[in-house]
This record gives sequence, C-alpha cells and structure tokens, in this order.
Amino acid sequence: MTETLRFGDLDIAFDDTVLRPRPWTLEQSRWAADLVAAAPPGPVLELCAGAGHIGLAFVRLTSRRLVTVDANGSACVIARANAAAAGCAERVDVRHGDMREVLGAGERFAFAIADPPYLRSADTARYPEDPLTAVDGGADGLALVRVSLEVLDRHLVEGGGAVLQVLDAAQADAVAAFLSDAPGARLAVAGVRVVDGHGALVHLRG
Ligand SMILES: C[S@@+](CC[C@H](N)C(=O)[O-])C[C@H]1O[C@@H](n2cnc3c(N)ncnc32)[C@H](O)[C@@H]1O
Repeated sequence: MTETLRFGDLDIAFDDTVLRPRPWTLEQSRWAADLVAAAPPGPVLELCAGAGHIGLAFVRLTSRRLVTVDANGSACVIARANAAAAGCAERVDVRHGDMREVLGAGERFAFAIADPPYLRSADTARYPEDPLTAVDGGADGLALVRVSLEVLDRHLVEGGGAVLQVLDAAQADAVAAFLSDAPGARLAVAGVRVVDGHGALVHLRG
C-alpha cells in the first residue's frame, strides 16, 4: 500500500518495498544544501537513495542536476515518481543498480549524499518492518559504508564534498580511521553532526 509523508516542503510517496522515510534526515538535505554552495560547479549524486526524498529535498534547494542510485528497482520507480511530483524530474536521473556499477568511469560530481545500510547484520532482526537490503551493513555494519567511500573517492571532483549518513558517533570515528588508513584516499572527514537518538552525519571533503 502506498503511503505519503511530508518531508520539508515535499510530499513523498513510499511503500513497504523501501525504507520508510525518517523525518530527521531532512537535516542531511539541509546541511548538504549549505555546503554545496562552496563546491565547484557540476552535478550532484545520491548513493542509496531509496524513495529519493533526501536527495530531492537537497536538490530543490539548488539549481544542480542530480543523479540518484539504488540497487532496489522498486525504490527507483518510487524515486522517479517522487521527482516528478516535486517538479524536478527533468534534472533528476534515477539509476537502478549497484553503486559500483551504474556510474560511468569518467563521471564526476561536485557534491554527494550517501545513505548506505549501516546496521550490523546481527541487529537487523530488531527492525522487522525495514527491508533487509536497506539496513543490513554486514558483520560490522560498515560494509556498504566502505563501498560508498570508495565510490565517492572515485567520482567526486577535486574540492568536492559529501554528507554521509551513519549510525552514530562511533561509526563516524570508524569512517575517519578507515580514510586515514586507506592508501591514497583523497577523502577526509571535515565535520560530524550527531543527531541525538537518530544517527550521525559525516561531512567528507574531496
Ligand atoms: C538505509 S537505506 C536508505 C534509503 C533512503 N536514502 C532513506 O533514507 O530512506 C539504504 C538503501 O541502499 C540501497 N542499497 C543497498 N546496497 C546497495 C548497493 N550496493 N548499491 C546501491 N544501492 C544499495 C538499498 O536498496 C536502500 O534503498
């Protein structure tokens, strides 16, 4: 059954094939919109977009073009409908597939949002209403976060940035440690916002 939820000034449709939109994640859209003002020109990217609301609320605050990516085909159908309802279908390109595969080798983005699954596999049973592929981040919860970092490292322009959503301050610290240990990584953590009781947002500088 399709439901609709108010997200900022958008009406976002979703159903039980995707993660139910969390109102707190509007903070991610707004922070990204603040930061992108200082980014180089060019399109922006959303990895793991689900119903597409975070990227749509972000891109509506800018004049940039947006590419969204999700491995769930149903999520992509919903995200396209949400982009049309938001009046920005012509500048939103929704791509279905694994984030490692759907971007062209030469594609570069000025800024990005990423919302990968980040629960430890052992904890997913506590959230039976959420699609497993939307929340299962592997044994340590960070498998898809690491993939997102690798994709961002490859596809962000020099001087670009991103806002990555993770579970908590401990995962944000793990992201910083992973990047400082990764040979040749261009990305670095520039700031963290913990949204109490909800999650954490990591500003990455490219
Ligand atoms: C935590 S949900 C976030 C969805 C949405 N951004 C939100 O906040 O509701 C993670 C999303 O990542 C997608 N996903 C999981 N693995 C992926 C992969 N390898 N490549 C692209 N998308 C993936 C899932 O289908 C799911 O929609």
